[in-house]
Amino acid sequence: MTGRIPENILEEILSRIDIVEVISGYLSLKKTGRNFKANCPFHHEKTASFMVSADRQIYHCFGCGESGNAFKFLMRHERMDFPEAVEILAKKSGVTLPQRENPESVKAESLSNKLYKINELALGFFENNLISPAGASSRDYLLKRGIRQETVKEFRLGLAPGGWDNLINFLRSKGVPLSLVESAGLVLIKDGGGYYDRFRNRIIFPIFDVRSRVIGFGARVLDDSLPKYVNSPETPVYTKGKNLFGLNLSKDFIRDSDCVVIVEGYLDFIIPYQEGVKNIVASQGTALTVEQIKLLKRYTNNVVMIFDGDQAGEMATLRSLDILIDEGINVRVAPLPKGMDPDVLVRRSGPEGLKTKIAQSLSFFDYKLDLLKSRHDINDAHGKSKIAAEMLSTINKFDNAILKCEYTKKLAEAIKIPERHIVEELNKIKPLQNSEAAGPVFKKKRVEINPAEKLLVKFMLEEKELIEKIMQELSLSDFQDERTAKVVSAIQEMAVQGKNIQPNFLMNYFSEDEATQFVCETIFMPDLDDQDREKAVNDCINRIKVDRLKSKREHLHNEINAAQVSGDEQKLNSLIKEFHNLIKKGD
Ligand code: CTP
Ligand code: MN
Repeated sequence: MTGRIPENILEEILSRIDIVEVISGYLSLKKTGRNFKANCPFHHEKTASFMVSADRQIYHCFGCGESGNAFKFLMRHERMDFPEAVEILAKKSGVTLPQRENPESVKAESLSNKLYKINELALGFFENNLISPAGASSRDYLLKRGIRQETVKEFRLGLAPGGWDNLINFLRSKGVPLSLVESAGLVLIKDGGGYYDRFRNRIIFPIFDVRSRVIGFGARVLDDSLPKYVNSPETPVYTKGKNLFGLNLSKDFIRDSDCVVIVEGYLDFIIPYQEGVKNIVASQGTALTVEQIKLLKRYTNNVVMIFDGDQAGEMATLRSLDILIDEGINVRVAPLPKGMDPDVLVRRSGPEGLKTKIAQSLSFFDYKLDLLKSRHDINDAHGKSKIAAEMLSTINKFDNAILKCEYTKKLAEAIKIPERHIVEELNKIKPLQNSEAAGPVFKKKRVEINPAEKLLVKFMLEEKELIEKIMQELSLSDFQDERTAKVVSAIQEMAVQGKNIQPNFLMNYFSEDEATQFVCETIFMPDLDDQDREKAVNDCINRIKVDRLKSKREHLHNEINAAQVSGDEQKLNSLIKEFHNLIKKGD
């Protein structure tokens, strides 16, 4: 993990930042004793097993084992590489990083970084174009849609000019290679070779990630022509299903209100947000994905869905409901009348109109049942069975047995069928397959570390004085587990350098996840009384010595057997001598 950046710089950064503050930018942390906890963002879970220690400046998940310091958190959570994570936290903490000595590495700036820059340049171009004389009719259009000028600025709306090569010429004049512009999804390749602008004569809605980097664009026509929207394709920095429009602006409001309103369209976000409903995100016209829900879970577990009052909106709501429930989200639905969407609603009835809808939102059960009743005849046997099947497929997604039982009972009452028959049908549904595509980061079955080695490491991390004592009694090779050996060797290295042995610093010395996980795990082990401690240290040292002798003895024993078989008299004699010495020592 180390490489070019000197450890003392890394330590300076880590000591200036607070891991609790860093992580709470992404998750809602709850205080528990001296630590903080949250639902783990790295694996699927419904009860919190992700712990952050403010004292020791590390995090550890008891569910999936993911652990580390603030650098590692950013690497995992934001999928950054190590230098990127260091750069972010260096900036945050005001530490100046030494100039990289190798100019090649500057050139080898990651593709993603280049694409963000190109997108930013393009957005500047679109923004300028909207405020130029050529943008007059587009500005009128936006005003007519109820978007105020400050809002245009805040959302950084723009205008793509008509014509096939306006952006191309602009980016070319900035020296940007067009092959990269193509990777950013801003231009398309002509049949006969060459490029042309993807976005032409359209209002530009830039799409940002949570860190407010421009990752893509949505572009709307100014009239009724089709297609209404042209969007960025998937690029190395943009995957539609992994992002939520507007979250960069609304995340703090979502966290503070502990609730998020999910709408479909760009306008359905912008208008309510402008009018004061700020805990909102837009799915961009599709059902939610597991990744989008995981993103939201960093801020809240409570969702109100307000999709358009049309068939597409209904379908997307139903599909999203199942995924939300599967992810353990507490979800409600605010249905809109036919032809209505949140943008129209707010323009007609103000933010209060939308707030009323939110307050009147239905549980998944009532929403879905109403919908099914409009599609099937609840008084007819076949209708009942269809309604039951569809309701049960959602009810089955609840992890919580009590909720499952309550909803089963409600369903029985609603369709007037004895509950036991409903339960019978529920039991016919196959057990859920875990639908997680990505899977937990770390799910390998681990061999447990010898408890004596584990405890000694814990002691060394807690009390500097013990390091010397322990290392007088034991040498590195006495530690049998590779992970402990790695950690102990790093501890020794830091001790030799006269450094403070803090666990968050320690893990800059090795890159193995398993060793990092081990360090973090020991941090959360229960503390021992001080009087137990000395005894425990001695016990551990003895235990390790005994284990070591035992394995030496076994090894010699095997060698003796081999020498006997091969008839090597001389070797046999010296091995037997060694064996006797060992036994004497062991007594
Ligand atoms: N959408 C899209 N491509 C389309 C149509 C829709 O990507 N051809 C996405 C956009 O993100 C859009 C959302 O689906 O914002 C909702 O679509 P729709 O309700 O048709 O558009 P609105 O955003 O409501 O736009 P408007 O109010 O201007 O009609
Ligand atoms: Mn609309």
